[in-house]
Amino acid sequence: MQLDRDDERILAGEQGETKQKMLGLVIALGKVFGAERLVPVRSVQVSGASYKTIGEYGLQWLTSLEGKAVIPAVLNPIGMPRTRWQEMGVDPDFAEKQQAVVAAYERLGVRLACTCTPYYLYDTAFGDHVAWSESSAVSYANSVIGARTNREGGPSALAAALVGKTACYGLHLARNRKPQLAIDVRADTRDWSIATYGALGYHAGKLVGNRIPYFRGIRPDRDQLKALGAAMAATGAVALYHVEDVTPEAWKYQYDTGGLEQITIGNRDVGEAFSEIPVDAVALGCPHCSPEELAHLASLLKDRRVTKPLYIFAAQGVIDANLRSVEIIQKSGAKVYADTCMVVSPVMEQYPSIMVNSGKALAYVPDMCGAVARIGTTEECIRVATE
Ligand code: F3S
Repeated sequence: MQLDRDDERILAGEQGETKQKMLGLVIALGKVFGAERLVPVRSVQVSGASYKTIGEYGLQWLTSLEGKAVIPAVLNPIGMPRTRWQEMGVDPDFAEKQQAVVAAYERLGVRLACTCTPYYLYDTAFGDHVAWSESSAVSYANSVIGARTNREGGPSALAAALVGKTACYGLHLARNRKPQLAIDVRADTRDWSIATYGALGYHAGKLVGNRIPYFRGIRPDRDQLKALGAAMAATGAVALYHVEDVTPEAWKYQYDTGGLEQITIGNRDVGEAFSEIPVDAVALGCPHCSPEELAHLASLLKDRRVTKPLYIFAAQGVIDANLRSVEIIQKSGAKVYADTCMVVSPVMEQYPSIMVNSGKALAYVPDMCGAVARIGTTEECIRVATE
């Protein structure tokens, strides 16, 4: 693999043992996947931040490291809001461990923004190389923005933050971004919501696995793309997809999909995800809410009161920039929390049944929260939470 003089110095240990090990990790991964060189990355998103998922072993490993991130880096959601964990009812023992994890990342120079939507915090542009971990963020970066990232593990993303580079293989290379199957959606999609796109992704992810699909017949907006990609990354392992006439790289392949496996998805396939089971709590913001989603929720909750627990999750930066919407939402009795989400917070485990508007949450809530999950449109979720 081609290395420059800086890399050689780091490998020789001139910038400390942690950086030496981290560059070694990046290079070793690159060799496994046939990378010929490293590529500088503009930002990093590190998973493995919730104590619920990394546990004591992960915490010990983090505290053993020395070094500082050399490029902007954020964390994936953690198990609780950093400042309002008591209000959310988080167990103090868990909170102490979670704070230790956060402190370890802070010491390593990672910004304490804990979100799966780093694209709302960092200006990420078409063609940028980044090293992001969380599967929905990876899907959004590659598919919606046209940036380039593999799905990094927590340690490899942290390594990229400390050395400023990742190995150039997989989706960093144009030749690996071609569609591998085509999906025709045969349905009237004019009234589709983010929940419907989430349900489409929930179904499609199981058929696609880890391949790159090329969709025809849909016209999702950005929030709907976010929902589609997040769900496909949950039931499958889709890190990049194209949507004809919508996503930024689709035009390259428009006349090139004839020889691919063709799949058809219809209304009935998408409708299978929806059910009418009773609900104990409602949780929205998977992936974390956009400013537009917060504004929509504010319009639905204005002058209403919740009768069931209603949790809404968003990045702190998005909350801070949309305080008027957040104020209206919280006036209804709903709670808007940053830093965490319905899947990684242990607080959600108290509810036997949770309603969501997300195909990804529909896939993860049963295993991660031990709850039955129901998907509905945002409007239906608000109706259930306020009836
Ligand atoms: Fe984000 Fe949590 Fe969903 S990390 S994508 S809100 S499961």
